[in-house]
Amino acid sequence: MVTRALDLILLGPPGAGKGTQAKRLAAAFELLHISTGDLLRDEVAKGTALGVEAERYMSRGELVPDELVGKMLAKRLHSQQAALGCVYDGYPRTRAQAVLLDGLLSELNRRVDVVLYLNVADAELLARITGRRSCPSCGAVYHVATQPPKAEGACDRCGSALTQRDDDKDDVVRERLRVYREHTAPLLSYYSGRRIMREVDGAVAPDEVFRRLREAMGNVSA
Ligand code: AP5
Repeated sequence: MVTRALDLILLGPPGAGKGTQAKRLAAAFELLHISTGDLLRDEVAKGTALGVEAERYMSRGELVPDELVGKMLAKRLHSQQAALGCVYDGYPRTRAQAVLLDGLLSELNRRVDVVLYLNVADAELLARITGRRSCPSCGAVYHVATQPPKAEGACDRCGSALTQRDDDKDDVVRERLRVYREHTAPLLSYYSGRRIMREVDGAVAPDEVFRRLREAMGNVSA
């Protein structure tokens, strides 16, 4: 039996839970998790030319230019690990990025199968983002109130000291939300016209969000 690749997008504002759920979906369906935010932070940490350029935008809550992010995406999409499909987390964020993804997938005889939109109100987003703590070593994500680590300030998995993302400060978060509304929210209509978009309430507990996402995928994953 030939298994067709599965390509799904997690769309939603900053703090909606895209990263949390993308990891779970990738594990459940054996897909490659492509988080452009994580990839960019990795470049920043390594101090590459791309990282230095990207940090100028990220620190202000602005979008990194489409060409830079597009090259990074294309490299991942053409890798062997992407052969069974991908979960796109934080990509696309503009219409140009959505068009590029369509083109790259079409070259591989694939297409976006489903877009899962996580809907969460602004007040909840701010509370989630400002309480987020991340592990700089293994990438695990916590929340000081709702998903605290067992020992305060230390990663459960690897023991490293948890940190707060530079762009998770209040004023930068507000700019990220503004940028989301202006550039990324219009993608909802870009995809809803194709009848591949499913809206899921992201304001419930993570396990319940995951259950609803799987339910919303219906027979796309069959
Ligand atoms: P990126 O890293 O993609 O950030 P984002 O989209 O703003 O999303 P977040 O990572 O803040 O939130 P999330 O939805 O993943 O939520 P999470 O699961 O972590 O991008 C950062 C920057 O990089 C951008 O601003 C831009 O500059 C640049 N960039 C990235 N991609 C780009 C692109 N394609 N083009 C141009 N520029 C790009 O959860 C958040 C918190 O809530 C956590 O603490 C978590 O524990 C908690 N939580 C999660 N789910 C729940 C729940 N159900 N209930 C309670 N708490 C929950």
